[in-house]
Amino acid sequence: MKGTGLANEYDALVSIIENARESRVPISFEKHIKEGDFDKHFRIEVTPIVSNNNYIGTIILFKDITENIRHIETIEEKHAIMMEQERPASLGQLIGGIAHNLNTPIMSIAGAVEGLRDLVDEYEESIGDDSVTDDDHHEIASEMRVWLEKIKPHCSYMSDIINAVKGQARHFNQSVELSFTVDELLKRIELLMKYELIRYNCTLKTFINVDRNTELYGDINSLVQIFDNIIINAIQAYEGKNGIIELSVKSSDSSILFAVRDYAKGIPKNIKDKLLKEMVTTKGKDGTGLGLFMSYSTIRGRFNGKMWFESEEGKGTTFFIQLPNDKLNKIHA
Ligand SMILES: Nc1ncnc2c1ncn2[C@@H]1O[C@H](COP(=O)(O)OP(=O)(O)OP(=O)(O)O)[C@@H](O)[C@H]1O
Ligand SMILES: [Mg+2]
Repeated sequence: MKGTGLANEYDALVSIIENARESRVPISFEKHIKEGDFDKHFRIEVTPIVSNNNYIGTIILFKDITENIRHIETIEEKHAIMMEQERPASLGQLIGGIAHNLNTPIMSIAGAVEGLRDLVDEYEESIGDDSVTDDDHHEIASEMRVWLEKIKPHCSYMSDIINAVKGQARHFNQSVELSFTVDELLKRIELLMKYELIRYNCTLKTFINVDRNTELYGDINSLVQIFDNIIINAIQAYEGKNGIIELSVKSSDSSILFAVRDYAKGIPKNIKDKLLKEMVTTKGKDGTGLGLFMSYSTIRGRFNGKMWFESEEGKGTTFFIQLPNDKLNKIHA
């Protein structure tokens, strides 16, 4: 309710007292009263007193709730600041991710360039050498072709990564209403996780029990980041050992249920309760604890979805994300 001086509220208050008297039912409402230096929030309770069916009078109680309101405002401000602070963290993660993803193909291309250089040297040395036959020349050419063929997929992977990252970067500057399919989501996740999985000897298995063209609503880039973080957590939970990570998708009610399962060490009991609602990490300086905390608030706030997990120490962990695929339930991302 808009804040005004008490004098302006006099008529309104009298009519509420009158209503309470007539209906013999207590009425309560909140009022922000601001006049000069006076600035307070009240919960006003208007209670008619009735005895033997006779109206005796009205008790009007002004409960000062200024502190409670300020407390709520502070929590909201803190939340907004936290969301804002997440931007540089995510941007940092994104840049780290790009560097990491591009490093492997660049190293492979550099290796192929070395191989090609040796062959070019060999070719040059053979000029004018009568002992080098046409067949030898063809052999050198075909070895060169092998290196060129090896370079090609790395180039196209780098170009895919750049396109995916362009999309991710756009998400820092825009807040748009978007939709995407399950297929697009899975392709992006697989692409961005490819080298991370290989590097740590993990395999991602997908089990898709929905139509891949099922549409979901919101910003695909936020969701890709959330899955990446969950998958990276699973990879890290295997601690370098070979591991299987299962990503399954199925429909349930008017929603899509994703599950990411690992058979690694499980989540320690003492952090389970706090995990999604606070920043908790067991990774010391290598972790921030921001991953799951932000994922949870994004799934709820931006996707109108749910996120939870099941985990047993020594057995493994499954993270669940449930998203509405019903347009009526969507929230604008
Ligand atoms: N699959 C998992 N298996 C075992 N523990 C996990 C798993 N996923 C998360 N955890 C635990 O939850 C903690 C919090 O995860 P979260 O992703 O929020 O932060 P982090 O991974 O520690 O740091 P960051 O995401 O910044 O790298 C982790 O430190 C780890 O202890
Ligand atoms: Mg993490």
